Amino acid sequence: MTRLGCTIFHAALAFCAGCSQESGELADMSAESAPSVLIAHRGASAYAPEHTREAYELALEQGADFIEPDLQITQDGVLIALHDLTLGRTTNVREVFPDRFREELVRGESVRRWYANDFTLEEIRELDAGSWFDPRFEGARVPTLSEVIELARGQAGIFPETKAPEVYGDRGYDMERLLVAELERHGLHQTSANPDTGVMIQSFSLESLRIIRHDLGSDLPLTFLISGPDADAWLTPEGLAEVSEVATGIGPTKSLLLQNPDAVDLAHEAGLTVIPWTFRARDASEFATVVEEMAHFLFELGVDGLFTNNPDLFPRTPPEEGS
Ligand code: G3P
Ligand code: CA
Repeated sequence: MTRLGCTIFHAALAFCAGCSQESGELADMSAESAPSVLIAHRGASAYAPEHTREAYELALEQGADFIEPDLQITQDGVLIALHDLTLGRTTNVREVFPDRFREELVRGESVRRWYANDFTLEEIRELDAGSWFDPRFEGARVPTLSEVIELARGQAGIFPETKAPEVYGDRGYDMERLLVAELERHGLHQTSANPDTGVMIQSFSLESLRIIRHDLGSDLPLTFLISGPDADAWLTPEGLAEVSEVATGIGPTKSLLLQNPDAVDLAHEAGLTVIPWTFRARDASEFATVVEEMAHFLFELGVDGLFTNNPDLFPRTPPEEGS
């Protein structure tokens, strides 16, 4: 693995996976000189099925500083790495459990949905989470958060996202408490707990982050994800000040920063890190390549890190002048 990029992020990240071992300079690093952080979005998900061991291992090989598990909860209360509330898009659940769907009306149409939370971990372990992506990944499984932590331990950090915590709350689960308890079981619940495996937490729900910070007392770096109709209001001095009462950073969509590049400096002035998403080789928006796109965000706009499906293409240094 290449050097683990790590940063203090305005003192929000007191841990550092590799800098202290390699350079011993952790205490002297300023936010300006800190390297940018490469987050493998759902693993190296351009090349392997998202949120599988195969995608995470490839991300580590490609030099990711953090791997990203989105979190869902099984019926028996286990946190798993899965993006959707449902299993239909990324597993063969329809074939293995053909009758275990809920029928719902969507825009007047009846739709069958196989919710992850309607299945036990043992049942979810039966599912093939690889073939939908490519037949050569047949047999890949949906991992638990615990398995993702063990996979990353000592090699990179993890950046779990509490997904739809209010939906799980309505079903009687406490996603934040489950997450902090799982981190504690692995000795990773506080910033200082394990210097070789950093942990940051992200959510679209500021309330979820508030619970983690204030109710559960975690001092881990927290990133508030920003998109949708309310986005512009969050990217104002007032909005960012409100975020900074709970979180240490923001995670806006990349298009928001292209429309409003001043938001990066505003967030930094509010003491917040900026980690946009999602950078993909197959969709580099207005740029010729995703490498150019990522370089623009890192070295022109000055973001602190980014989420990409292509960790191997992450530019660690600015492009040479004239190239
Ligand atoms: O967590 C950052 C980004 O992953 C948010 O989008 O839908 O891919 O989880 P999503
Ligand atoms: Ca995510």
